[in-house]
Amino acid sequence: MDYKISEKPVISALEIEGSIRNLGQQITSQFKVDLVLGVLTGSFIFVADLVRRLDPSVQIAFVNASSYGNAQKSTGCVEILPWNAIDFTHKNVLIVDDILDTGNTLSILSNRVREGGALEVKTCVLLDKPSRRQVQIHADFVGFSIEDYFAVGYGLDFASEYRALPAVYKMEKI
Ligand code: IMP
Ligand code: MG
Repeated sequence: MDYKISEKPVISALEIEGSIRNLGQQITSQFKVDLVLGVLTGSFIFVADLVRRLDPSVQIAFVNASSYGNAQKSTGCVEILPWNAIDFTHKNVLIVDDILDTGNTLSILSNRVREGGALEVKTCVLLDKPSRRQVQIHADFVGFSIEDYFAVGYGLDFASEYRALPAVYKMEKI
């Protein structure tokens, strides 16, 4: 099946900016973040904008989390790299990802960070697709809850393209 990108954004750059300002206020008032842990690659733009709405003393680290196994069926296996380089002990960790889809990545990563000695772990995503969930998890801070479509832009890719778009678009069947 072939896809093309929607002509207009589904979420504009201005809407994203407003949502991040809001998230910054929510997070700051509810959680004393010591470390922001971004999930590469999709979250790189979101993390960059979000941390500028948080206390400037927050530490920032990134991990690469990739699901592996049968492509048709999510196995729930997630490889996380680099792992040993990050010290989570006694820290309040805010895990930040671009999108919460099946939930496998965030649930496995949250558990690993807790096992790594974190004090408290909370999660923040720009987009949430609740209809696609396979494991029971909700993000503590959500920018936008969306329908089941494939989103691109603002860090999110389709076959490694479109990450650099300043707004969120939708891939449409042609
Ligand atoms: P989960 O483990 O299924 O929740 O996977 C989340 C990851 O899948 C995200 O970090 C994205 O990299 C990717 N993903 C899921 N849905 C989309 C989408 O609509 N657009 C782009 N990437 C997506
Ligand atoms: Mg990702």
